[in-house]
Order: sequence, then C-alpha cells, then structure tokens
Amino acid sequence: MAVIAGNWKMHHGPADAAAFLTEFDATSVSAAHELIVFPPSISLYAVASSPHRDPRLQVGVQNVHWEDAGAFTGETSAPMAAGAGATFSLIGHSERRHVFGESDEDTRRKVEASLRAGLVPVLCVGETLEERQSGAVERVILRQLDAVLGALRDADRFLVAYEPVWAIGTGETATPADASSAHGTLRARLEEVLGVAGAATVPILYGGSVKPGNALELMSSVDVDGVLVGGASLEPTSFAEIGAAVG
Ligand code: 13P
Repeated sequence: MAVIAGNWKMHHGPADAAAFLTEFDATSVSAAHELIVFPPSISLYAVASSPHRDPRLQVGVQNVHWEDAGAFTGETSAPMAAGAGATFSLIGHSERRHVFGESDEDTRRKVEASLRAGLVPVLCVGETLEERQSGAVERVILRQLDAVLGALRDADRFLVAYEPVWAIGTGETATPADASSAHGTLRARLEEVLGVAGAATVPILYGGSVKPGNALELMSSVDVDGVLVGGASLEPTSFAEIGAAVG
C-alpha cells in the first residue's frame, strides 16, 4: 500500500479543478494505494463535492490558520477546510516555510488546529541545499519533526513528507539512497516516541520532482511509503501514471 498525493500549489481554480476530475481515471492505479489531492483553498469545495470526483480521490487543504475563526483576512481555518470536504491538511510545506516565513512554532499550532478539526496532518520537512552541503540534513529534519511530535503523538493518524527543498520544482531528485537515509532518520525518531509498531503505521512520503519515470525507483527505497507530487500532479494522466508506476 502506498500513498500517492498531489499538491496542486497555486494552480487549478474551480473550473480547471473540475476539468481535472472529469479526466482523471484511476483504473490503472492499484486499489491498495491511497490517492489524495491538495487543491488550492478556493477549489477545495468544488473538488470535494463534485459528482465527477472518483471516490478514491481524497481531498486535503494546503495550509490552515492556527485559530479556528477570527479577524485573519485571507486565511482559511481548519474547521472551514473540514467543512468544505477536506480530510487531510498539508502542514509546513517548504514554500510555507521559506516563501512565507512559517516557523516550527507556527507548524505546531497548525498541526494542533488540524487535529482539533479532525483533519489528518501531513507534516512536510526538508533541508535546503546549503543545509545539505553543510551536513545538517539530520539536524534540520529532526528539528522540524520534533517541533510537532508532542502534538502528533496522540493523533489517530498522521503522515510525514520528506521534501528536500533543492529537489522541489527543479527536476533534481534525491537519490534513492539519500531518500532512504532521511526517511530512516525520521522513522527512528518516530520509533523513539511511538514505539516500533506505532512508527510503522506512519507513512513517510518523498516529494521533490517526482515523475512517472522515477516514481517506482524512489518508492522502492527503504522507508519510502509514498510520494507527494507537485508539478506532475497537475495533469490527470501523469498523476494516474505515477500511481500506476508504483505497482
Ligand atoms: P515538484 O514535484 O513540482 O517538485 O513539487 C514537489 C512538492 O513541493 C510537493 O509538495
């Protein structure tokens, strides 16, 4: 069983999202796999409530505010996303951290807000190129994980996504060995906190320039339980091809 998730980022408004759903065909994707898309908030309801949505395609929100409601112009709260049909929330994506200055503390509060609303958090972690070159991969990804583990340890379910910042949208991917190494680091920390059996239930996804042609190799790496796809999830056929490629 693998998790195949698509993060549409700031693409696919309601009309384009509806067109995606009409075209998306998951018949080539094993029924054992879990499929999730993260549309922009403005398209969330249209996707979740569309009669054309394949029921296997679950829906998540790309970001939430840490408060449930209030004077926060332009923001979306976790209960609102849940009300619009989301069941997952992406927390701490590298673009949130590096373009919008989101801190580890912000991610912790957003994880807590997600859990209060009944959303399954997908925590994103990953190092920059500079951090990798200075040998700080483990330190950075464990710091990002540790910041939220207190909130996550009692969650019914959560996922982690390792997305090296230098591999996002660049065409560069981590080697399977690099991915396994980072995923192993995350798994070991999860085992310390949740026990071996508990940690084994947490899918750790790899993200960063995943395409139909490299998905299987990445997925075959030890401790890689799925993929979080950006650019290649925008096309219904390439998203389905990735799902089919992983077996
Ligand atoms: P790309 O697949 O476009 O590199 O994006 C990865 C990503 O950020 C998914 O969240």
